[in-house]
Amino acid sequence: MSLIIAPSILSADFANLTQEIEKVEKAGCDWIHVDVMDGHFVPNISIGLPVIRCLNKIATVPLDVHLMITNPDRYLEDFAEAGASYITVHTEACVHLQRTLAHIRKLGKKAGVSLNPATPPEALQYVLDDLDLVLIMSVNPGFGGQKFIPAILPKISKLRQMFEKAGKKDIHISVDGGINSETAKLVTAAGADVLVAGSSIYGSANVKEAISNLRKAAQQ
Ligand code: DX5
Ligand code: ZN
Repeated sequence: MSLIIAPSILSADFANLTQEIEKVEKAGCDWIHVDVMDGHFVPNISIGLPVIRCLNKIATVPLDVHLMITNPDRYLEDFAEAGASYITVHTEACVHLQRTLAHIRKLGKKAGVSLNPATPPEALQYVLDDLDLVLIMSVNPGFGGQKFIPAILPKISKLRQMFEKAGKKDIHISVDGGINSETAKLVTAAGADVLVAGSSIYGSANVKEAISNLRKAAQQ
């Protein structure tokens, strides 16, 4: 699988989203990662549907929507209609995970599941038929700019093995939280193919260089 770079707009300037999106697209990003937080599932509140509808008008690459919200089932249609290409829910927020994933696919979208750092990879064992992406949190979700938790690294290789054994080689393994050129090396070596990065891209004076540094790190 070729490497996918998904800048997280959580670290972008929200007063200039058009320029912020254009900037990373020009720099060669593959997806735009959009963090939705509800103040319940995570302590923070970020952005929601009206902003995603606007992003959808601007962005030319797929919107990778990460729902850090309780009861995501209630809003799946809305996020699909707003323009999400990938809709990722947290397994910790889903009582009937298989039903949720099947619903996302029925809406014509790619279905993702995110795992908090403390959630074991086995949580996905029985939903592989309904899965397009797993988003492994390498920080506790809620804020940008946190420190990468190295204890999640074996989870990446375990999931890659689980997917290969089940003949599901196309399921993306994405890692989110504290990704920079050092940690990108570690997670891609373990089997990740999608890098979500907020502060290391938007916090850099040279976004193009930041993205190409992530690509270079992934090859090492
Ligand atoms: C955290 C979000 C991340 C966040 C990552 O809860 O899910 O997508 O933007 O930010 P960095 O890359 O700064 O850790
Ligand atoms: Zn995220």
